[in-house]
Amino acid sequence: MKILVVGGGGREHAIIKKIKENKAVETIYALPGNGGISKDAVCVDIKATDLEAVRDFAIKEKIVFAIVAPDDPLVLGMVDELESKGIPCFGPSKSAAIIEGSKAFSKDLMRNFNIPTAKYEVFDDAAKAKAYIDEHHAPIVIKADGLALGKGVIIAETDIEAKDAIDKIMTQKAFGESGNKVVIEEFLEGPEVSVLAFTDGKIIVPMISSMDHKRALDGDKGLNTGGMGVIAPNPYYTPEIAKESMERIFKPTMEAMNSLDRTFKGCLYFGLMITKDGPKVIEYNCRFGDPEAQAVLPLLETDLLEIMMDVRNEKLTSDKVKFSEDSTCCLILASKGYPQTYDKGFPITFNCDTNDIFLAGAKIVNDKLVTSGGRVLGITKRAKSLKEAIDLAYKAADDVSFDNKYYRNDIGHRALEILEEVK
Ligand code: AMP
Ligand code: GLY
Repeated sequence: MKILVVGGGGREHAIIKKIKENKAVETIYALPGNGGISKDAVCVDIKATDLEAVRDFAIKEKIVFAIVAPDDPLVLGMVDELESKGIPCFGPSKSAAIIEGSKAFSKDLMRNFNIPTAKYEVFDDAAKAKAYIDEHHAPIVIKADGLALGKGVIIAETDIEAKDAIDKIMTQKAFGESGNKVVIEEFLEGPEVSVLAFTDGKIIVPMISSMDHKRALDGDKGLNTGGMGVIAPNPYYTPEIAKESMERIFKPTMEAMNSLDRTFKGCLYFGLMITKDGPKVIEYNCRFGDPEAQAVLPLLETDLLEIMMDVRNEKLTSDKVKFSEDSTCCLILASKGYPQTYDKGFPITFNCDTNDIFLAGAKIVNDKLVTSGGRVLGITKRAKSLKEAIDLAYKAADDVSFDNKYYRNDIGHRALEILEEVK
């Protein structure tokens, strides 16, 4: 069986390693993949957002099943393009991917279907947006409507900062067309939980919960990044919170999308905040989170490719989605300076086995693997306890070498404190 994976980061590497466990898989193509993925898949230099080139490649290679992993090709309609040529896909259609593609859409969805989220208003006029800030005051959150590589969210501590954010997004177009509209929303407080869920539009089956660490520096300081490390499961996500999330958020979201004729099939990501009034949605993503997938998928005990095919064929059953009771810690090794400027091109060497290492910013130059991005790789260790998993991940970090290697020293520490408190 020939499988195609669209994308080229740590998340895609984690998906590829997992689907390789299926004996029927003969060849996996990654478009574009990366230097590290090339050990596990045939990487072809086609951009993940080039709909026509991906489609033509899939037809030429007689791909049996395609997995579209990143947000931008999904929002552009990659799944519609491939499906229209008879290539079955895992991933939402363009009309469903809008749940991530437009924050104005997702906020209106939540308001119209009574799904708990922060109070908000949408503006396409900078003066009106500023007048709203004068009424509601900081702390307040300003979000560019469209995709902005995870950077379009500004948490303003003062009214001046909030108005500067409006200028930056709407007038200076710091995130391009993404900033034609903004969402201004209430600042919420509480621990964050990521829940990825498989859904075929008929049922929704959550995976194990996780906790991302988005800030660049220890103690949750510094700039927001794509994610510096993840632990799973997330101790804040108690069975009670899980039940409430299912009843008030997960199922209603699936049903809301169905009722708008935008049935979502794929992995729906719920970014939740556990507030004193219960769980609320901070954001939806139309795909596996990265690095969340790197911590969650290694705990999946059932066949990922079969689940994905069942999702596509609207035959998903919860008994096929089973997770281990172990814990994982995924530690991201980055280039010093990320998420701003950093040097690259440094050779990467491993003094350990690389089974549980997922490459992201890496490419091959003269037969050598070298750094090529901000987040270079993720190391995921699994153990009976979270503490052991964290210790193993940090130990392994010493066995991977490249110049300017940087990582946070406190991934999972907050989770360990909570586990201690509930004991
Ligand atoms: P998003 O891209 O929407 O997930 O936002 C990025 C990060 O900003 C989230 O992970 C939160 O830490 C924070 N954030 C977003 N919305 C809010 C909010 N309404 N209140 C507090 N923090 C928020
Ligand atoms: N780790 C957050 C995301 O994938 O959007």
